[in-house]
Order: sequence, then C-alpha cells, then structure tokens
Amino acid sequence: MAIHFPPLIAPSVLSADFSRMADEVAAVERAGADWLHLDVMDGHFVPNLSFGAQLIKALRPQSGLVFDVHLMMAPVDPYLEMFAEAGADHIHVHVEAGPHTHRTLQQIRTLGVKPGVAICPATPAQAVEEVLDLVDVILVMTVNPGFGGQKFLTSQLEKIRTLRRMAEATGRDIRIGVDGGVDIRTAALATEAGADMLVAGTAVYGQPDYERAIADLRGAARRAS
Ligand code: DX5
Ligand code: ZN
Repeated sequence: MAIHFPPLIAPSVLSADFSRMADEVAAVERAGADWLHLDVMDGHFVPNLSFGAQLIKALRPQSGLVFDVHLMMAPVDPYLEMFAEAGADHIHVHVEAGPHTHRTLQQIRTLGVKPGVAICPATPAQAVEEVLDLVDVILVMTVNPGFGGQKFLTSQLEKIRTLRRMAEATGRDIRIGVDGGVDIRTAALATEAGADMLVAGTAVYGQPDYERAIADLRGAARRAS
C-alpha cells in the first residue's frame, strides 16, 4: 500500500483557545482540516494535564471532523470505552504505556474505533513491529510528548523512513503520522521521509489565519514529495 498524498492535516486543539473550544474546532473545519487531533494527558505518563473524554463528548455533535484522539495515559485500558463512547474515531495509545499494547489495540478495534500506536523519540521503530497488523495509524512523536510548541527532533526522520518501509511491507493501508514541532519546514522533511499525516498545534492555532496555515502546510508537503 503506497503512501497517501497529499498528507492529511490534523490541527491539535492543545494550542487552541480553550475558552472558545467549539468555535476553534469549527474554525479549523471551515479552514480545511482533515482530522482534529485531541491530546489527552494524565500528568503521569506525561508531565502535563490537558482534558478528558467529557470535552471530546461535548465537541462531538458540533463537528463533522474525524476525531483523532491521542491518549498520553498509563494505564490506558480502563478508559478506552469512555473515549469510544465520547465519539473518538481513532484512538492512539503509546507503545510505552504498558506491557500489553497488543491487547489494548485489539480492544480499541472491538469498540469500533480505529487503532493507532504512538511511539516516543527514545523508542526504536522495532517496538511496534509485532502490532503492525492491528493498527491503522503509526503516530511518530517528533517531540517528547507533553507540551505543544516544542522543537521538531530531526533525529526521528530516519525512524519515519524505517516505519514507512515496515508499513509498506505489511501490504496493509497504514498511515504514518507525525506529531510535534511540525511547521512549514519540518512538514516538508516529514513528508519526504514518508509521513502522510501531520499533526500541527502551533503551526495552525498559533497563526492568525487558519486556512492559510493549513494550505501552507499542504503546500510545503507537496513541494517535498
Ligand atoms: C504533544 C502533543 C502534540 C502537540 C503538538 O505532546 O501530542 O499533539 O499538540 O503541538 P505542536 O504542533 O505545537 O508541536
Ligand atoms: Zn498529539
């Protein structure tokens, strides 16, 4: 299965104005976003807290976007049903979050949600090798998870290339997403390395014109292909 082009753009609401969240979600939908990335942080797996399933459930009827939910939580299994019921279309769990990622991903599929596996900068690509048959997305962290606005780790580009090769070898349709420090410059690097989904917090919500920001990211990716 070949790389999809152009890459999907998934604005992360972590960088949105939390006091106007429904408007902020509607604004990126109008501006041409493909997916909406929702970062859930537990203050344990990552050193920050964000929001939980209640907010996602409240936003669900307000938006037609694909809800791409990134759970930075450990343990995560007890909460999967809650996020499925809240309206997640995809749930990403970290391969580092527990010893039973295989079972966790199976559970997500059973709940009728598309499973994704997220992988931190310190974790080698091979850590997800045995779960590739279970996932629709691999989310490569290009920052250490926990905060928006960090610098893209170019050291992860080789991992993106490796994972793209591994994904192709399965013959399955697996997206390679990149999360953290994506901007016009790094969007091009990530796409060139084989990413076909780009999460962007600051590069969309930190800009005055969301439509232009999304179009610029797509344009940068297009030039890199
Ligand atoms: C980081 C989150 C990211 C974050 C990205 O832990 O998983 O999704 O919102 O923010 P930027 O695009 O600003 O690096
Ligand atoms: Zn994320």
